[in-house]
Amino acid sequence: MKTIKIGILGLGTVGTGVARLIEEQRDLISAKLGAELDIVKIADLDIETDRGLTISSDRLTTDAYSVIDDPEIDIIVELIGGETFAKECFERAIAQGKHIVTANKALIASHGNDLFEKAAEKGVDIAFEASVAGCIPIIKTMRETLAGNTIHNLAGILNGTCNYILTKITTEGASFEDALAQAQESGFAEADPTLDIEGFDTAHKLAILNSLAYGMKINLDDIYVEGITQITLDDIRFADEFGYSIKLLAIGKMTNGAVEARVHPTMIPKTHLFASVNNSVNAVGVHGSATGDIFLVGHGAGMLPTASAVVSDLVDISRNLISGSGQRVPYLSFLSHRMNELSILPMDEVTCRYYVRFMAMDKPGVLSRISGIFGEYNISIRSVHQKDGGDECCVPLVMLTSIAREKDIQQALIDIEAMQLIKGKAALIRIEE
Ligand code: HSE
Repeated sequence: MKTIKIGILGLGTVGTGVARLIEEQRDLISAKLGAELDIVKIADLDIETDRGLTISSDRLTTDAYSVIDDPEIDIIVELIGGETFAKECFERAIAQGKHIVTANKALIASHGNDLFEKAAEKGVDIAFEASVAGCIPIIKTMRETLAGNTIHNLAGILNGTCNYILTKITTEGASFEDALAQAQESGFAEADPTLDIEGFDTAHKLAILNSLAYGMKINLDDIYVEGITQITLDDIRFADEFGYSIKLLAIGKMTNGAVEARVHPTMIPKTHLFASVNNSVNAVGVHGSATGDIFLVGHGAGMLPTASAVVSDLVDISRNLISGSGQRVPYLSFLSHRMNELSILPMDEVTCRYYVRFMAMDKPGVLSRISGIFGEYNISIRSVHQKDGGDECCVPLVMLTSIAREKDIQQALIDIEAMQLIKGKAALIRIEE
């Protein structure tokens, strides 16, 4: 039986999972592939820790380049993470004509356009299913299953850490710090959790999905990004009273010939499927012209779920090697010369409904002055609620708007926050039905 030789860079959680899965499912994989996957070498800075693998120690090295340069190896699995050294390894592997599987969303989102161009020149396959939403097969779905569909919009809960934190605050009243610490202990937070909680990790994943969905170059820089650090328990409770859950959503939508690309906390109806996606679970919804809505739900992080996506890519590339049909599927769905010149809609132009909470002095005339400013900016108020709580100075005043333009709401908030009767900054959460 043919053997496909693999080199792994990075023996952290996912690398260990990949080695374990290949060991444990050796027979099953060969029954499906008609070839054996053989891990020839693994590089990691720490090759002393016992990770419970049966791989012999002479296959472990601290020298990543010795893996990439090994002429025996067909496919490099890059699980180093980060952008600097991982990029060097990527470029070296491409130069050597090695196919690559990666889970590195930051690298693909920031440097994918360039790396894919280089890979195409060398006839190298690059697969990155594990880079978005862990085990959920969204890349394959976009690249292959939806080939006959124009995508109209997509949305997702793409960060397990944020979803876990919001779930713990909502269901247990946990503090943000405690919930984040638990996410870190569970191993699904990034080494730098700022990437999770400030929304950047979700933006990396959205940049990749938008490119696959709309045939545009990967555009990370123009995505609007807002994380979950400003979400309070009060806002979560008020949202609940109005029939909404708060989730950190990635939204990619075609609007008037441009792509809306935004990551922010979003109120969604409690009846929406996303509202029941809790803890570290991820979900992606896509609206295809032929399919209508489809939803995929599953573990977005963790050792074996992520390893499952990596192994699926290894099997795909191995099939290409066996059949001699490399680059069968374009890296980003569309042939590179048939991609669309699409730009991202400026956030100012986005329209949606809004939840706004002010801390306002409980005095006559406050409400009419706020309403007046909203009116000046053409913002229609759907409902107003004065809530219990607050302090001797101020009470929470919550307003839900009709559909308004982002630029207008932001201008209105500047004017309202300047009023003596308002304390601090307003809380603003976008609502998607
Ligand atoms: N830190 C990421 C998350 C890991 O929490 O979803 C998977 O990309």
